[in-house]
Amino acid sequence: MASVKDFSPFAPSTVECPYPFYAAMRTEAPVYQVPGLGFFIVSRYEDIERVLLDTEHFSSKTGPGVRREPSPEIIEIWSQGWLPVATLLTNDPPTHRRYRGLVNKAFTPRRVAAWEPEIRTVTHELIDSFIADGHVELVRQFAVPLPLTVIADALGVPRTDMPQFKKWSDDAVAPLGGMISHERELECARSTVEFQHYFAAKLEERRTHPRDDLLTDLINSRIEGETPLNMGEMLNMLQQLLVAGNETTTNLIASAMLLLLQNPAQMEEARADRTRIPNLIEEALRLESPVQGLFRTAKVDVEVGGVMIPAGSRIVIMYASGNRDDGKFAQAETFDVCRANAKDHLAFGAGIHYCLGAPLARLEGKIAFEILFDRLSNLRLAPDKNDLTHTPSFILRGLQELHVEFERA
Ligand code: HEM
Repeated sequence: MASVKDFSPFAPSTVECPYPFYAAMRTEAPVYQVPGLGFFIVSRYEDIERVLLDTEHFSSKTGPGVRREPSPEIIEIWSQGWLPVATLLTNDPPTHRRYRGLVNKAFTPRRVAAWEPEIRTVTHELIDSFIADGHVELVRQFAVPLPLTVIADALGVPRTDMPQFKKWSDDAVAPLGGMISHERELECARSTVEFQHYFAAKLEERRTHPRDDLLTDLINSRIEGETPLNMGEMLNMLQQLLVAGNETTTNLIASAMLLLLQNPAQMEEARADRTRIPNLIEEALRLESPVQGLFRTAKVDVEVGGVMIPAGSRIVIMYASGNRDDGKFAQAETFDVCRANAKDHLAFGAGIHYCLGAPLARLEGKIAFEILFDRLSNLRLAPDKNDLTHTPSFILRGLQELHVEFERA
């Protein structure tokens, strides 16, 4: 049995398997202050939901990740582009409402639904590229390129620029987990500036030559009485679409596949009745939440779960722990594609910051498994190739590789 006193958030063994520690926290110390680090971890479903919905006492402004004050070198690099603006993830009411309202107008259900044929085509193309081999490294050959290609197409990035686009996406996410060197942080800052100049040119082009795409919608997005978005704001939002959308969806697809491979009876259930695929996606999000937790800051002294949290304290809302809370989900550690309340998970957050891209992520996950099931059978873990290690991050959870063998269906 794990105990909170052995919990060390950045230890490789914790990154590999944090769940016994979350379970220990839920029982021993549901609102746990990590010794030496000072931040609190909120681990029970009910308390997490309460913090998420209470923007009066808890702020997102200090950023969702492990905080490091930007060094003067980083600020110098940023000043060659557009300095960070608080738009969505890092904002609070009332200004959050304006940004969210404007981006909602660009990222509409209609636009997401219109991507479906494209998502199907990309999924088929990716499977075509490895089906003759009888095996695949699913992360690199499928789960990474699928969301990346979809969002790149949506943003009008030509396929030839995809490697660059992937690098921008990785470099935007890497600093969040708090586990990279200063050199790497500088590289990520340079990458942000490159990304900004690339998209600033594209946005300017859309002003004069509008198209039926997300960038044009962003340029044209208007709310009566509100000023339209300026360039720095648009770029910040675009970066969030990249940060929030790619690695998370990759990790969802890979972890859902691993759960199925490790639970063959559940694989059969889902294959036998394809209408279960959407619930399979919810259940995978619940058990292997790609965003394990994010930070908030207490605006005032505030009590959560019987613990007094002093003003200014940082708090991790650990979605992944709430999602395994037996108080909410019966036999919470069990993977059950037919679970009736799987969709109650907190993997997309709750309240005003609820994931903007949830409909897109769900659609991509659903289409991925529909087509994988249609075209591949006898899916199994490749023997001797899988160490099933995860990306080193306290915030995001994702398999580094997943080697799978199969036959053509
Ligand atoms: C499985 C995939 C995904 C997961 C698990 C996920 C998870 C989350 C979570 C937990 C939040 C809430 C943050 C908070 O409470 O502070 C969030 C917000 C957000 N997500 Fe996602 N996300 C996913 C996919 C996407 C995609 C595909 C996009 C867009 C292309 C996206 C864009 C965003 C944005 C812009 C926000 C900020 C919304 C706001 O602050 O108003 N996400 N996401």
